[in-house]
Amino acid sequence: MIRTDEQPATRPERRPTGRSVLMCRPEYFTVVYRINPWMNPAQPTDTGRALAQWQVLYDTYVGLGYDVQLIEPIDGLPDMVYAANGGFVIDGIAYGARFTHPERQAEGPAYMRWFREAGLDVRVPAEINEGEGDFLLVGDAILAGTGFRSDSRSHEELAAIFGREVVSLRLVNPSFYHLDTAVAVLDDTPGREHIAYLPSAFDEASVAVLQARFPDAVIVNEADAAVLGLNSFSDGYNVVIASRAKDFERQLLDHGYHPIGVDLSELLLGGGGVKCATLELRR
Ligand code: ARG
Repeated sequence: MIRTDEQPATRPERRPTGRSVLMCRPEYFTVVYRINPWMNPAQPTDTGRALAQWQVLYDTYVGLGYDVQLIEPIDGLPDMVYAANGGFVIDGIAYGARFTHPERQAEGPAYMRWFREAGLDVRVPAEINEGEGDFLLVGDAILAGTGFRSDSRSHEELAAIFGREVVSLRLVNPSFYHLDTAVAVLDDTPGREHIAYLPSAFDEASVAVLQARFPDAVIVNEADAAVLGLNSFSDGYNVVIASRAKDFERQLLDHGYHPIGVDLSELLLGGGGVKCATLELRR
């Protein structure tokens, strides 16, 4: 088949790097409150199906050779499955989460307890932040979202704790309320930084910043973003994505990646996907 659409002139060789992640089984997953537009408590959820779909993601990571750690789910915290929100971990330091909504606030201390027991240096947050949902490490810099959840003051706290450049980005579409629903980090290796994103999820100034920093970024279409296609997890070569994000899948292939589709339709009812269910542990 001849492809007529644009392809990168020189396609860099993609290399997977080993990953260590934290996940939480959706044992108590359901939708009983509404804190994002995806959630509708009137629509039934199927916890059994959520567990089965989550298991496929877990098995995929294990199959890719990742070190997968588990945190014990807590009854009454239905969103705990979205482990990405539990904190932000780099260089053995875990910056804890402080949730925006009271419904999720108890998750912060639960995750910090796990980090402590895992021997990480835990920093209790002063500012509202939802961990890796809004903070993404790309190269040596941290992309940090604000607008719906994490307070921009948490970006300063982040910079002070990690001593890294923090790039603030403002989200403007309530359906893409966390940074990890609008940006996918495809290669986080310093010098090889590569991302995908949805421009319409950001204000103009933030789009300008993204364009300047990542001129070769993959621009994802609205349809793929609307199935949380960007909410994916990459090891630099393998990219685990929502199986329904078909154009994104093709774009990834064109850029030399190996997309692996998974179906997390139940977790989508809570407004989350692959990345939301995954917290990277950089120890
Ligand atoms: N129901 C959860 C919330 O609204 C979903 C969190 C999704 N997590 C993520 N990293 N985007 O807080």
